[in-house]
Amino acid sequence: MNVHDSEKVVGTLVQEGYRQVETVEQADLILYNTCSIRDKAEQKVFHRLADYKKLQKQGKKFGVLGCVAQQEGEKIFERAPHVSLVCGSASYRKLPEMLTQLGVAATSVLREIPFDKLRADSRPAGESAGLRDDAFLDRARGAKLVRITGLDDRQTDECFETEFTARTNPHRGYITIIEGCDKFCAYCVVPFTRGKERSRTSDSVLAEARQMADLGYTEIQLLGQNVNSYRDPAGKRSFAELLAAVGEVPGIKRVRFTTSHPRDFGRDIVEAIDAVPTLCDHVHLPVQSGSTRVLDAMQRLYSREQYMERIAWIKAAKRDIVITTDVIVGFPGETESDFGETLGLLEEVGYDGIFTFKYSPRPNTPALNLEEAIPDQEKARRLEVLMAKQREVQIPRNRKYVGSIVEVMVEGHNQARGQWIGRTSQNKTLNFTAAAGKSPQSGSYVAVLVTASFPNSLVGEMMSQEEGTKTE
Ligand code: 5AD
Ligand code: SF4
Repeated sequence: MNVHDSEKVVGTLVQEGYRQVETVEQADLILYNTCSIRDKAEQKVFHRLADYKKLQKQGKKFGVLGCVAQQEGEKIFERAPHVSLVCGSASYRKLPEMLTQLGVAATSVLREIPFDKLRADSRPAGESAGLRDDAFLDRARGAKLVRITGLDDRQTDECFETEFTARTNPHRGYITIIEGCDKFCAYCVVPFTRGKERSRTSDSVLAEARQMADLGYTEIQLLGQNVNSYRDPAGKRSFAELLAAVGEVPGIKRVRFTTSHPRDFGRDIVEAIDAVPTLCDHVHLPVQSGSTRVLDAMQRLYSREQYMERIAWIKAAKRDIVITTDVIVGFPGETESDFGETLGLLEEVGYDGIFTFKYSPRPNTPALNLEEAIPDQEKARRLEVLMAKQREVQIPRNRKYVGSIVEVMVEGHNQARGQWIGRTSQNKTLNFTAAAGKSPQSGSYVAVLVTASFPNSLVGEMMSQEEGTKTE
């Protein structure tokens, strides 16, 4: 989501006459996009901003975007006085205007100001760098500092719709269909940083999908915090209908969607996957815990049984749909027996992949007030056990592909290994070799015979065109 926000911000600013550069050194304006969903995100951001401070002497300007900007607000100016712009995601539309106020408009004397490559930093959290520097503060006050804030109101109706998205991959692109979240899971900061749930019209989503197909994109990923809570403001299409309609756009070969919330996951989504071949055989359905008691404490709005009902619908599909999930360990009050239920669920569902997280307390969230915190060491132990269990589950699931022929989209080439990297409809990585003289193009679709499997990937050999078509 954040990566796609960066693509939209870059596209919007490039349209305004700014130019994107590769390194911080080349930039006059550095916009730092942040995510605060887990870990010590705030500390990490302040640490990075401290690194930037020394660049201020070169006349560079700094802005902080995204969740940490929204969450920390003007406190950022206090702790990092060299920052002159703080902007939440619902205010991105106003960025060009705000930059003009800051004196870094692309149309001013400084035409074509480079700005740093926006990124959602995923480096491990750093320690707080003790940014208070009073001498610096005094200088800053004397120097007529201009500071701009674009903080969002949770009730905002603003969507960041832009036709100027700078997509980094020429074959696969994201489309946001719904922003914000109204679920308020007890551990989660998103409803506070991204505002209330608001959907785009299905006509506007389809127009973007057609435009992407015209530009040569073949894979589209529909995005939303809860993509399946989508409600067309024009009342024309349900989420499943929109999914099917995107899948029917001429030129589109694959459609993915993430993330689904189990509470709003309807059977019609499975029916759409069965009916429209371009919809991928993959559903990411975060469960968070296998214990109904913990799910209640997390305010997830479903029980283990209700979750398993959705899984049964997916498994009853005509197509073999792969299921992946997110799990949090060590939520306050999670007992050994609750954790045992989560382990059991991994086997019962038979996930093909999971993202695992240690519970981390987040600002403003209701779970902050819960007692019975789980010590970090114990969270780490549970995480290890969970990952080992999932490995056990995944090995045979991947092994069953050995000997079959699957279609992959070519994503790249690993020169050192002499392998191409492909992705299957089920979202599995398949590293493959090709006969001498054959060199598949990135973005093309080829048939590959799977020859071996690992817990997290498959290995194969590309089929010749005739062999590939014979098996279809
Ligand atoms: N602690 C740990 N994991 C979290 N997630 C969201 N908030 C937290 C938190 N406070 C995880 C959830 C969610 C994923 C995107 O991040 O598993 O599905
Ligand atoms: Fe966070 Fe829950 Fe909303 Fe997902 S559904 S974004 S976990 S509050």
